[in-house]
Amino acid sequence: MESFTHLRKGTTPRRVHADLDGLKDDELGRGGFTGRTANLYRRHDPTEFRAAGPLQPTDVLASELKPSDATDATGCPLLLFSNPDCRVSLSRRPEAMPFHVRYVDGDLLCFVHQGAGRLETEFGPLPYRTGDWIYLPKGCTWRQLPEKGPLSAWLMVEAADEFRVPPPGPLGRHWPFDPSQIVIPEPAPIDDDGRDEYLVRLMHRPVNGVETTTLRYAHNPIDVEGWRGDNYAFTFNIADYNVITSDSLHLPPTVHLFMQATGVYVCNFLPKPAETVPGTERTPWYHRNVDYDEIAFFHGGSLYGIPMPPGLISHAPQGVHHGAPEKARERARRKFDEYDSVDWQVIAIDTRQRLTPSPAVLAHDLGQH
Ligand SMILES: [Fe+2]
Repeated sequence: MESFTHLRKGTTPRRVHADLDGLKDDELGRGGFTGRTANLYRRHDPTEFRAAGPLQPTDVLASELKPSDATDATGCPLLLFSNPDCRVSLSRRPEAMPFHVRYVDGDLLCFVHQGAGRLETEFGPLPYRTGDWIYLPKGCTWRQLPEKGPLSAWLMVEAADEFRVPPPGPLGRHWPFDPSQIVIPEPAPIDDDGRDEYLVRLMHRPVNGVETTTLRYAHNPIDVEGWRGDNYAFTFNIADYNVITSDSLHLPPTVHLFMQATGVYVCNFLPKPAETVPGTERTPWYHRNVDYDEIAFFHGGSLYGIPMPPGLISHAPQGVHHGAPEKARERARRKFDEYDSVDWQVIAIDTRQRLTPSPAVLAHDLGQH
């Protein structure tokens, strides 16, 4: 709900997210970063706590996780986090699927962290490469054929309904995600190759404890001669994302919103010029995003010279403080004149409902809290 008040009490800098003079900048905000907000100027780093109980930040490295599809062509991605609105999984498939697959519970949005290859989809072949988002409509039949190589890693976000572009707001068609940059497949039916049957694996939430169902066809299911409409698979590379910036204010994450489904918001934090007005904080402020759980997936890059570990998956439950450590903030202030850009590549998934980390995530938590 909008309000008409924005009060100022006690010691506060004149500008927001600037000129902190030793105070710690902490935001208590509603609706992600778009609702009513209080900026709290604290004496101490609010992330300096030790947690006990289930609502704890978790940090895992994708390279330490072992989806069954990493070693077995008939295997599956590994579930990382879930709630009623979405499931987030990791795939590390190095070999072609010996089956086709169909996610029947909702749209699928996959981020290609490592590797390249090709998808056979009902809409036609769709090449993919590192940095691509792959969008696959609910119920679409497809098959992954990775190129030969040691590395293959996808972060997969399965919604309970449709991924859509966000409302354009005042940016209109200048929204950072320009849909005219997407790659759309051309229909290309595939001839049968003489085998007895073609398997289509339906992926779904557990039904009587079982998460897959297999359909057997006597023909190749990629047999579409032509298609028309506005419900189709595509890819979009993050290199084509137009990052919005400000010289005097580190903008909130919501500015970088890419696509959204009910209760699920996907953002791209990508290389950009650094803020230039002296005194401006270049590091995202501390917060406890009270209405959203957050997953940050570190694709690569660095924060003013501090490398960000590629493949780190970080989960912050709603209501629990997080943010870059104080020493990284001090360094960014100290090196203000040495850097004129930030080259981070981080994918964020924010969810309205609380996420439950899977046993695999909990088993590999780096235990940083
Ligand atoms: Fe956050």
